[in-house]
Amino acid sequence: MVVKKIAVLFSGSGSNLEKILENVHGKTFETCKIEVACLICNKKDAYGIQRAKKYGLDTTIVSHTDFSSRENFDRKIVNIIKDSEVDLVVLAGFMRILTPEFTKNVNAINLHPSLLPLFKGANAIINSYNSTMKVGGISVHYVSEELDGGEIIAQECFQKDGMSLEEFEEKIHNLEYKLLPKTIVDILDR
Ligand code: GAR
Repeated sequence: MVVKKIAVLFSGSGSNLEKILENVHGKTFETCKIEVACLICNKKDAYGIQRAKKYGLDTTIVSHTDFSSRENFDRKIVNIIKDSEVDLVVLAGFMRILTPEFTKNVNAINLHPSLLPLFKGANAIINSYNSTMKVGGISVHYVSEELDGGEIIAQECFQKDGMSLEEFEEKIHNLEYKLLPKTIVDILDR
C-alpha cells in the first residue's frame, strides 16, 4: 500500500488539525494510506500542539518573531517541509501571509471560512456575517501568491436565516471539520 504524507501548518486552537488526525491520519483509503508526517506551528502556546500530542505527534515550532523578514521565515518553513518529503501541505488555520518563497516552492491547500473570492483575509467570518448576503460558506483552495486567491477546490454554503454570530461561527466550523479532511482524501486518494 502506498503511503502518502502530509504536513499540517496551524497557528492556534487546531480544531481542524484534530479532525485531520481523527479522520485521515493513519487511515487507509482506496489507493493509499495517509499519514501526517510534519506539523509546524508559529505560536509556541497554540492549543493545537497539545491536540497533536494526544496522537503522539510532535510539532515543530517556528516563531515568526525570530525572523527579520517574511521571506526568511518562509524559507525556514519550506526547508522543514522539504526535509519531510510530504505529498501535500495543508494550511489549517495558519495565520501568516506567505511570500513567493513559500508559494513557489510548496504544493499547499488552505482552508478559508468564507465563500471565496468574497471576504478574503483575517476577518472573513465577521465580514461575511455582517454582509447583506443571504448565505455564508467555506472554501478550500490551492495556495497561490495572491492572498486567499488560488484555485478553488471545494466549497460548502448554508442559509444564514437569522442566525446569531455564535451560531454562524459554529455552522462554519462544523462544515470545515468535514470538508477539509474530505478534500485532502480527494486530492491524495487517486
Ligand atoms: C478556521 O476557521 C479556518 O477557516 C480559519 O482559521 C480557523 C482555524 O481554526 N482560517 C483562516 O481564517 C485563514 N485565513 P482551528 O485552529 O480551530 O482549526
